[in-house]
Amino acid sequence: MLLKIQETADFLLSKISSRPKTGIILGTGLGNLVTQITDKTEIPYETIPNFPVSTVEGHSGKLIFGKLGNVDVLAMQGRFHYYEGYDMKAVTFPVRVMKALGIETLLVSNASGGVHPDFEIGDLMIITDHINLFHEHPLRGKNFPELGTRFPDMSEAYSKELIAKARQIAAKHNIKVVEGIYVGTTGPTFETPAEYRYFRTIGADAVGMSTVPEVIVANHAGMRCFGISIITDLGVPGKIVEVSHEVVQEIGNSVQPLMTLIMKELIM
Ligand code: HPA
Repeated sequence: MLLKIQETADFLLSKISSRPKTGIILGTGLGNLVTQITDKTEIPYETIPNFPVSTVEGHSGKLIFGKLGNVDVLAMQGRFHYYEGYDMKAVTFPVRVMKALGIETLLVSNASGGVHPDFEIGDLMIITDHINLFHEHPLRGKNFPELGTRFPDMSEAYSKELIAKARQIAAKHNIKVVEGIYVGTTGPTFETPAEYRYFRTIGADAVGMSTVPEVIVANHAGMRCFGISIITDLGVPGKIVEVSHEVVQEIGNSVQPLMTLIMKELIM
């Protein structure tokens, strides 16, 4: 695994001249931020050694090196989901590579279903913490001390400093944000009403099918994390309606410019 990570990092280093310290993982259909990146070098996943290949509709699947504002970034347009059939090592491999490239801060976005009764469709939720309900843990198996400690601390999985800064940015621009706990589950089904209720009961505010594995591995690697969720549907009693990938994409699309603005200022 260490050799593979290094091989992939070396390949990428041979393609780029910048050394970004900020990595960004963009959720399904949330590629709007990429339009703001200048001096781009785009590297399709299928050309990167050891990289899994993304399959889901709405992903174009590439790494983008460039500048967001005046900051060097590495963005992943499209991520690898567990429900696609990848194991957790594959899902989180890009985060390992980011670390090997020198990334210190990881920003993550996703679409999720709101289970907090006050949430509204189209809300942006700053992720303050998560609950891991994936049944395969990304760190299961042999631990490589070069990558991180056997039993990683998760007491501040999402950087309090970045959360506070994002809150200020949102207030400055009059962007409504909510805050909450994201529960990560495998999918690919959306939830039954009973499952939404269960997630609310265990302390979640939103539910989605990503983010948690990447944030666990980023914490293991000592990276600072920030996550933001677009609430695309509601798993709240009385407000549950049929949900589809298309609905999720449509709502995600309409709100993502605000999310882009927050992320852009966050890394400045
Ligand atoms: N559940 C799980 N994942 C999601 C949802 C949802 O309601 N909405 C967007 N992603």
